[in-house]
Amino acid sequence: MDERETAKRRAGESAAEAVEDGMVVGLGTGSTAAHAIRALGRRVDAGLDIEGVPTSFQARERAHEAGIPLTSLAEESPALAIDGADQVAGGDLVKGGGAAHTREKLVDAAADRLLVVVDPSKLADALDHPVPLAVLPDARRTVAEAVREQGGEPQLRRAERKDGPVVTDEGHLVLDCDVGTVTDPATCTRALSTVPGVVEHGLFVGMADEIHVGDEEGVTVHTPGTE
Ligand code: 5RP
Repeated sequence: MDERETAKRRAGESAAEAVEDGMVVGLGTGSTAAHAIRALGRRVDAGLDIEGVPTSFQARERAHEAGIPLTSLAEESPALAIDGADQVAGGDLVKGGGAAHTREKLVDAAADRLLVVVDPSKLADALDHPVPLAVLPDARRTVAEAVREQGGEPQLRRAERKDGPVVTDEGHLVLDCDVGTVTDPATCTRALSTVPGVVEHGLFVGMADEIHVGDEEGVTVHTPGTE
């Protein structure tokens, strides 16, 4: 396992340790969250009694492989969610690298606490990673125009090993929008979410309760708002 993968594994395992018996747990998407799911699976094998709420098709598959019983948001809200991120600045995140941010936001926001798991390459002083928008397919042109009017540069996310665009688990297309440096995340959030046809954007503002950063030495846990 290379250094970055080791860092991700450490972050995932660290967050998985915060899970307690009887909890409903939001299960995030991506390679770092997958380490947390595997660590939780090992704890379930050892007797931990939890139920998971998956944030995507991928998270559901990983949870099945790990032997974690599942429930849904329609039935229960998580006490804690563990999720990855594409960029972290304080308690603000850009997510959606796996095109799962619509359901990730739903589950992460419903959780009492959100633990974010990353390697150090994800940390930034300010968010400047392109923000993914999940859009209704028919709205892709009008949303792209609206984003350009706001000064952003949208790009339709193309699929790999499939001709055409990425289609999300919910049947949306993804516009990756370069909006420069997000100096005022709350205003940017409002501007993006009021465009008709945008189902969800990948800015998660002030949602993270803890950031678990793995590296080659171990794990550092940041608590945004208290540092
Ligand atoms: C998926 C996400 C992921 O959490 C994000 O892309 C980070 O993934 P990874 O841990 O593989 O770098 O937001 O929509």
